[in-house]
Amino acid sequence: MTTFYAHRGASTMCPENTMAAFRQALREKADGIEIDVQLSKDGEAVVIHDETVDRTTDGTGAVKDMTVLELKQLDAGSWYNQACKEETIPLLEEVLKWISRTDLKLNIELKTDREPYPGIEQVVIDAVKRHELKERVVLSSFNLETLRRVREISQSVSIAVLVWDNVDGIVKCARHLGADAIHARPGFMHTAESLRAEAAGLPIRLYTINEPEDLKGIAPGFIDAVFTDSPARLRRALGGA
Ligand code: G3P
Ligand code: CA
Repeated sequence: MTTFYAHRGASTMCPENTMAAFRQALREKADGIEIDVQLSKDGEAVVIHDETVDRTTDGTGAVKDMTVLELKQLDAGSWYNQACKEETIPLLEEVLKWISRTDLKLNIELKTDREPYPGIEQVVIDAVKRHELKERVVLSSFNLETLRRVREISQSVSIAVLVWDNVDGIVKCARHLGADAIHARPGFMHTAESLRAEAAGLPIRLYTINEPEDLKGIAPGFIDAVFTDSPARLRRALGGA
């Protein structure tokens, strides 16, 4: 296993999905970062995990009901630590601009499993193309319809099917979609589907791996990458530099 993605940034050390967490991931020598994207009321892609701002900011309400101006006024750091009170919800644009000054890979998860966010696929693909980051980016989603739309818009952007439960036939479905990888929980490795993925040449990336025990019984050679909240700590624990 070679690739460590910082899950929501280095989210053990910093508030998740903030620029502080992404800068920390770079300091921890992660290979990439994973971010969650939702759409604001005015159609901007914003980086936040939940459909509401309640858990990770000092505001309340649904992301889809707030404009970027309103979202940007929120404190996205104090819930984690008072010292992070200057953090705001990043725009996807800000993250892409920053990523292009690094050599980090980027996994953008389109959070359409609870909110449909019509048009989010086009917004994200346009932004990735504008920043010429297609080679370093993989778009993922739990929502297969979202991935189908992504593939319709772009045949060349990398996509990954996100798997929560181990659904039979998901590999066939991934191949049908033209997916490039499967992002799954460790339990996936103990199912026939993981062998099918291997046979189909589909890399498997596992989330969220914070302890070496999370990979117990899994041959490292079968894993293309892991998503972790603590890239430096996990790399050390697994015996890496
Ligand atoms: O992409 C892997 C992982 O981030 C999916 O779960 O809830 O952390 O977005 P969640
Ligand atoms: Ca995610």
